[in-house]
Amino acid sequence: MSLGPEVWSRSDPHLVGEVISAQALRERVAELGAQISADYLGKNLLLIGVLKGAFLFMSDLARQIEVPVEFDFMAVSSYGAATQTSGVVRILKDLDTDLAGRDVIIVEDIIDSGLTLSYLIRNLKFRNPASMTVCALLVKEGVTPSDYELGYIGFRIPPDFVVGYGLDVGERYRNLPYVALYREEFED
Ligand code: IMP
Ligand code: MG
Repeated sequence: MSLGPEVWSRSDPHLVGEVISAQALRERVAELGAQISADYLGKNLLLIGVLKGAFLFMSDLARQIEVPVEFDFMAVSSYGAATQTSGVVRILKDLDTDLAGRDVIIVEDIIDSGLTLSYLIRNLKFRNPASMTVCALLVKEGVTPSDYELGYIGFRIPPDFVVGYGLDVGERYRNLPYVALYREEFED
């Protein structure tokens, strides 16, 4: 028996509503996996997960991909205020894999301003992959059009702050099995 969104939200007033249910996540991740499997048949696929947010999405997506694939991870942190990305990114953990000749998909949890990803792509392109695209679980509406291709998008959501399924506030809520709207202030 898993605790439903009702139980989580009853015990935590910051969680105000389900944005994407666990079932919708499962179904969409299966679709993305099938699409990637078809697109990368006979290729040299490498998935790069951006830690920590993408870890749940990546592990579920991995099990829906039916072609040979390898996995690597990067950890980045953006300088600046906690709630707003500055676009200046520091690499905390780099890849173990040589990207030359690889067909790379960068797996991201959420794209807000897109600045983090923009930096990452510029950096990784210098390493000569055969191809590179992005698979983002969530893209916030109104995201600034960028210089890179979003090959795979899970869901487009309104530009509100969300948590769960890998996404955090101060490292909490990553284990929430659905995506919830997060409210900072609440009344007793
Ligand atoms: P961007 O550089 O503005 O696109 O920010 C991307 C990063 O900010 C994501 O990888 C998340 O770590 C974080 N982020 C952006 N929006 C949210 C949100 O609604 N909830 C949790 N983390 C978020
Ligand atoms: Mg975060």
